[in-house]
Amino acid sequence: MHRLVYLSQLTRRLSAQEARSMIDLSRRNNARDAVTGVLLLQGRCIFQVLEGTEEAVMRRFHKIREDTRHTHLRIVQSDTVGGRIFDGWSMGVLMPQHMPTIERNCLFSLFELFPATGQPRGDEAQVLRLLRTLFSGFELEMAA
Ligand SMILES: Cc1cc2nc3c(=O)[nH]c(=O)nc-3n(C[C@H](O)[C@H](O)[C@H](O)COP(=O)(O)O)c2cc1C
Repeated sequence: MHRLVYLSQLTRRLSAQEARSMIDLSRRNNARDAVTGVLLLQGRCIFQVLEGTEEAVMRRFHKIREDTRHTHLRIVQSDTVGGRIFDGWSMGVLMPQHMPTIERNCLFSLFELFPATGQPRGDEAQVLRLLRTLFSGFELEMAA
């Protein structure tokens, strides 16, 4: 099982209609390829997780990377992992204002550690700690 986490920035605000059709298409594609994950949208800042076989995740990520609706893609994690966190979510979409404070703060810290331009800050252990805390909130929610 492979997990890829990236950050990016929308080049412009999407209309509700555009967002809707992008999400619908993503869910169809991801469900077909057994890719699961979540997309967090804070203003124009994107945080997305893609999980699945390495081949399926990388194939989809190469398409996503080419998409001109966003820019400044920064890979936060691309690793073999023990299992899925977002089982059953072909692509969950969440606004951070609806997330608990601890997880929201982890997300903001990740945005700070990976600025849109320039070198990433922080070390691998710090990044992993933030991801673990951010994901543990989801694991609780999924288990509920
Ligand atoms: C922020 C962002 C996230 C996206 N996430 C996904 C995704 O999870 N799955 C997906 O199929 N397409 C996603 N897309 C759309 C892809 O960039 C691309 O338009 C789409 O995969 C093409 O689908 P097709 O191969 O059926 O033509 C995303 C686009 C953006 C801008």
